[in-house]
Amino acid sequence: MQPHPTPMAQFLDEFDASLLEGSVPLRVFNDPEILDGELERIFTRAWVFIGHESEIPARGDYVQRRIGRDPFVLVRSDDGEVRVLFDACRHRGAMVCRAERGNAALFRCPYHGWTYKNTGEFAGAPFFRAAYGSELDKSEWGLYAAPHTEILHGFVFASLDPDAPTLEEYLGDMKWYLDLLWGQCKDGWEVIGDPQRFVVEADWKSGADNFCGDDYHTFYLHRSTIEIGVMDGVKRGDSTENLQGYHVQAGNGHAISHFLVPPEVPGPRFWGYPPEVAERFTPDKLGQERYELAKHSIGSVGTVFPNFSFLAFPLRHSRKEGPVSTMVIRCFQPRGPAEMEIWAWVICPKGTPEEYRRKTYRTSMGTFSAGGTFEQDDSEPWIAQARTAGTAYGRKLGMELNYKMGLKGAASATRVDDFAGPGVAFYPVLEDGVHRGFHRRWVQFMREGGYPSAMTPEQQNASAGEARSNGDG
Ligand code: FES
Ligand code: FE
Repeated sequence: MQPHPTPMAQFLDEFDASLLEGSVPLRVFNDPEILDGELERIFTRAWVFIGHESEIPARGDYVQRRIGRDPFVLVRSDDGEVRVLFDACRHRGAMVCRAERGNAALFRCPYHGWTYKNTGEFAGAPFFRAAYGSELDKSEWGLYAAPHTEILHGFVFASLDPDAPTLEEYLGDMKWYLDLLWGQCKDGWEVIGDPQRFVVEADWKSGADNFCGDDYHTFYLHRSTIEIGVMDGVKRGDSTENLQGYHVQAGNGHAISHFLVPPEVPGPRFWGYPPEVAERFTPDKLGQERYELAKHSIGSVGTVFPNFSFLAFPLRHSRKEGPVSTMVIRCFQPRGPAEMEIWAWVICPKGTPEEYRRKTYRTSMGTFSAGGTFEQDDSEPWIAQARTAGTAYGRKLGMELNYKMGLKGAASATRVDDFAGPGVAFYPVLEDGVHRGFHRRWVQFMREGGYPSAMTPEQQNASAGEARSNGDG
């Protein structure tokens, strides 16, 4: 006899089916049971962004980090390896790292004094012989480390699942776009300062979903920001000309919204980096074709499933100055039901002249930071979304949200089969397929069973809106 599906399994089946019709249940944006499932099934399995190598340049450098709500230490150990250590003492479980950042050869637990090398290995304990004699095998009592850590263009990712695929497999086609963003810089990238962290009373998915490519909100929610001239080259009024970009479902729940300037249009290239910065860019790692695409790129926003996002646009800090290329990266960290902590870093190509570094930092703080114009605009409706998701009446209604834009026959966006990059591309950006792909991957991770396999082209097509023409994928 078949066992009865659990209420959660049934909910996930219904959600998966409803996505093909462009619906997302409001409930997922504020629900303790769903959050518990996410922490257990997404954050202890998926590859997540931990930090950038430039935050820990020297041996012994460390920074405190989180995976889901769990504490970790990102450290460059004395052997030169970058490690992601679980910050939980093996004796009674207290945290051993008590500073946000620093340099240390050893981590000593404040409770009873058990001490670990910066490789995570057990180094010693008070009264060791008297307390444990020869009974304790030191090699077995080191800190736990993330079973997988990989670095891409200096960006450190980790997965807590021994069965996880390689980072490259996990990223799928998204790697092509991360290479496009970061591979052109011959000296690599670096963070400017510490990540800014701030709590928003909203679900973490509101941010991750938005950065998949919610261009639809840009010229409405951010109208006042745009009217004061922060974004350059925006057409006045309600012109859809501002939405002439590409949406790409890059597979496995990852997505990017990408804007190009036509080759004949003079002006910013390489996301607006000026010649004194762009002189460090080369086609060596990208190949000439992708390098040409980078040359003509003016804006990108995207999400690597589950909660790592990026944004690159030339933005203006003041009317007196020209636009400044702004590249920000961020994690939307779950903290509780309807509560997340946003971690936001500003990055720039290594070797960027000091004056431009200062400008890009200032522009980022003025736009995508706790006090930034865009950020404040965005946070409010995300908070409101979590609030309505928690309403008794919303629950009673089983309210569904509209993710129908771009479903076959429902919009002007059409599939572009000859787009320069891989994945399922649409033009223009008035379509929700990027969001549906994200939520479809979410459902796959939330299900019981083994590590979710890569999304098939059929599943991607279905999320892209082809479901009505060629059946379920
Ligand atoms: Fe860490 Fe006892 S809990 S030494
Ligand atoms: Fe926004």
